[in-house]
Amino acid sequence: MAASLRSFLEQLKRQNSLYLVKKPVNPRFELGALLKKTKGTVPMFFQNIEGYDVPAVGGIVGTRENFAQALRINKSELLAKITEAITNPGETRLLPSGPVQENVLTKGFDIGKMFPIPTFHEKDSGAFITAGIVVAKDPIYGRRFTSIRRMQLNGPNNLSILIESPGLIEQYYEFERRGQAMEVAIVLGVHPAITLSSQLPTQTFGLDKYNVASRLIGEPLPVVKCKTIDLEVPADAEIVLEGRMLPYVRHPEGPFGELMGYYGPQTMQPVVEVTAVTFRNNPIFQVIFPSSYEHKLPNALMREVVLFNHVRHVVPTVQDVHLTMAGGGRCHAIISIKKTAEGQGKQAIFAALASNKDVKHVVVVNDDVDIFDPEDVEWAIATRVQADQDIIIIPGAQGTPLEPSHNLRGVSAKMGIDATYPLAEEERFARTQIPGYDQIRLEDYLTLDW
Ligand SMILES: Cc1cc2nc3c(=O)[nH]c(=O)nc-3n(C[C@H](O)[C@H](O)[C@H](O)COP(=O)(O)O)c2cc1C
Repeated sequence: MAASLRSFLEQLKRQNSLYLVKKPVNPRFELGALLKKTKGTVPMFFQNIEGYDVPAVGGIVGTRENFAQALRINKSELLAKITEAITNPGETRLLPSGPVQENVLTKGFDIGKMFPIPTFHEKDSGAFITAGIVVAKDPIYGRRFTSIRRMQLNGPNNLSILIESPGLIEQYYEFERRGQAMEVAIVLGVHPAITLSSQLPTQTFGLDKYNVASRLIGEPLPVVKCKTIDLEVPADAEIVLEGRMLPYVRHPEGPFGELMGYYGPQTMQPVVEVTAVTFRNNPIFQVIFPSSYEHKLPNALMREVVLFNHVRHVVPTVQDVHLTMAGGGRCHAIISIKKTAEGQGKQAIFAALASNKDVKHVVVVNDDVDIFDPEDVEWAIATRVQADQDIIIIPGAQGTPLEPSHNLRGVSAKMGIDATYPLAEEERFARTQIPGYDQIRLEDYLTLDW
C-alpha cells in the first residue's frame, strides 16, 4: 500500500492507537474542543460530523512517536533521518492518474458544504482549513514547494490565505507585478512524511519538498498532474483544491486563535479562487487544531534540525536539542552538550540565539540531563546554575510577533541559561545511582490484587 494518510491510519489502527469517535460532532467548536483536550496528541477519527457525509481525522502528527512510526524509525533517529533526507533527496513518480482524482468537480461546488471545515475558537472570524498543504512551483527552476497555511473560508470557492514566511509571498508578489495569478493546489489528507517535509524552510534549503518527502518515505512519492492548473499533487491524497491566488485582491482575514494560544488580529490577506475540487471516493478531511502539538511539532522538528546543525558548528559535542511545545516549538530551546572545555555552554547559547530570531530563551545542560523531561531540566537549573554567573540577557533583539510580549515593544530580550557544571567539579555534580536500577521494572512488583 502506497504511503498515504490511509496507510498511516491503518498502521495506527493495528497498534490500537486510532480512536473512533462515533457520537455526532459539531464542526463548530465541538470538533476542535475534542482535539484540544488531548493537545492534538491522540489520533481521532470523527465518523459522524453533523451536516456532513465526509468524516474527519485529527491528532495524527502531534507526537514524535507518530512521526517515528510513520517513517519506521525510533524517535531518537528523527533529526538524523530528516537531515539525511535534506542532504540526499529522492525523486517523485508521475502517474497518469491516481485515487485523488477519482472525483473531479470543476464547477457548481461549495467547499464549505462539501467538507466539514471547523470553526475553532469563540472569536475566530469563521471556519478555517488548518491542515491544507499548499503546493506551488518555483517559476525559474520548477522546484515544488509545499507549506501549510491557514485558510479562511470566504465563499463557495473562495479562501483567504495567510503567508508569513518569505519565499511564497515573494513569489506571489512577483506574479502580482506581472499582473498574473499564481497557481496553487491545496492538498488535504496526506502521509505524515508529506506534512513534515512541507515544514522545511525554503529560505534555508531551497529544496523541492516533494523530493524530500520521497526520501523520508523511502520510495518515490507518486504524483499526478492537476486538472485545471500546471502543478502536481500526491496521487494518494484525500482531497485537492486547485486554485489561483488572484493578483491585487485582498480580503479581511482573522481574528484567529493562533499558535501561542492568543488571537491574531484581522488583517488584509490574499485570496485563493478555487478552480477545481478533486477527491478520493469516501474522502477523509484532515484537521489540525491550532496551538496544539500538531500545529507546533511538524515545524519544530525542522527547526530542531537547523538548530542542531547550527550549534554543532560551534560546539561539536552537542548531543541533542529540543524546542519545547509550551514554547511554541520555537521560543524555548533546550540543548545538551558533552562538555569538553569551559565556555562551551555559553557558546551553545550564542549559537542557538543566532540560529533563528524566534529563539527567545535557551537552556544548556550536560548530557546526563534528559532534555525532553521538564523536571530534569528544572533540576539542572536548580542545582547547577548561579544566576550572577550563568545567565546572559541580551536586550532589544528581534523576536517572533507570534508571542504578544514581543509585540508590546516590537523587540525581544533574549536569555541564555548555562546549566552545565564546571568541568573540574564532575564528582560534586555526579548524580546519585542505584546499581541495576534500569533493569528493575515496577510492574513486576506492584499489584492491586490483595
Ligand atoms: C499546522 C501548521 C499551520 C501553519 N500555518 C501557517 C500559516 O497560516 N501561515 C504561514 O505562513 N505559515 C504557517 N505554518 C508554517 C509554514 O507551513 C512553514 O513555515 C513552512 O516551512 C513554510 O515554507 P516555506 O519556507 O517554503 O515558505 C504552519 C505550519 C503548521 C505545521
